[in-house]
Amino acid sequence: MGGGGGGGGGGRDLFSAGTDTTSATLEWAMAELMRRPEAMAKARNKLEKMIGRDGHRLVQESDIPSLPYLQAVVKETFRLHPAAPLLLPHKAEADVEICRFTVPKNTQVLVNVWAMGRDSNIWSNPSSFLLERFLKHKTNFRGQDFELIPFGAGRRVCPGMPLASRMVHLMLASLLHSFHWKLEERVKPEDIDINDKFGLSLQKAIPLKAIAIKL
Ligand code: HEM
Repeated sequence: MGGGGGGGGGGRDLFSAGTDTTSATLEWAMAELMRRPEAMAKARNKLEKMIGRDGHRLVQESDIPSLPYLQAVVKETFRLHPAAPLLLPHKAEADVEICRFTVPKNTQVLVNVWAMGRDSNIWSNPSSFLLERFLKHKTNFRGQDFELIPFGAGRRVCPGMPLASRMVHLMLASLLHSFHWKLEERVKPEDIDINDKFGLSLQKAIPLKAIAIKL
């Protein structure tokens, strides 16, 4: 995400646009998986089957297209926890009619992708983290399927999307493949808080605490 302030800080804007969003997405994905040990185990098994046990070799970008389960984890994370819940503000260039509503010229338009991801008219069981929904359907997040647009769509789609997509998949796959993950003493998976904190980017209200054990 980005575009902050305009003028001058192009490099800085690009940097901050790409860091919070990417790390928040990764934290949400890990939190959702740690809440569901069976899904975490399944994601790891698929990685081990394909790449071998750690020490053999590390996950590579070229492995990602062959890992549909991992891709479903990322899509489901984008659906429930879009890093930019209202995209960036847009402005209508002319009067437009959408679904019988007139949006007058110069209206500031905020697109609530957070609510779209939880809309029961679009998704069955919208509040459940269900990987099967994306294993059956080919819905993608790149701006063609309007029900899932965490990066926006059209001419102002996030320019960092190709990089972000690579980073999120590769980092998540590497974390799952290289480490075992456990929770702090006496914390159960269902205790992990999944509430968000409203802001320009969607952060966890309570940061995830997980212990990595090197394999
Ligand atoms: C998971 C990661 C990311 C998400 C979910 C995300 C999402 C978004 C969204 C929703 C927008 C606004 C689109 C609109 O106007 O409708 C945006 C804009 C932008 N993003 Fe990202 N982004 C991510 C990562 C990145 C990365 C890695 C970079 C750069 C390296 C980046 C750079 C930018 C910039 C520069 C803009 C402003 C573009 C403009 O002004 O038109 N983003 N992003």
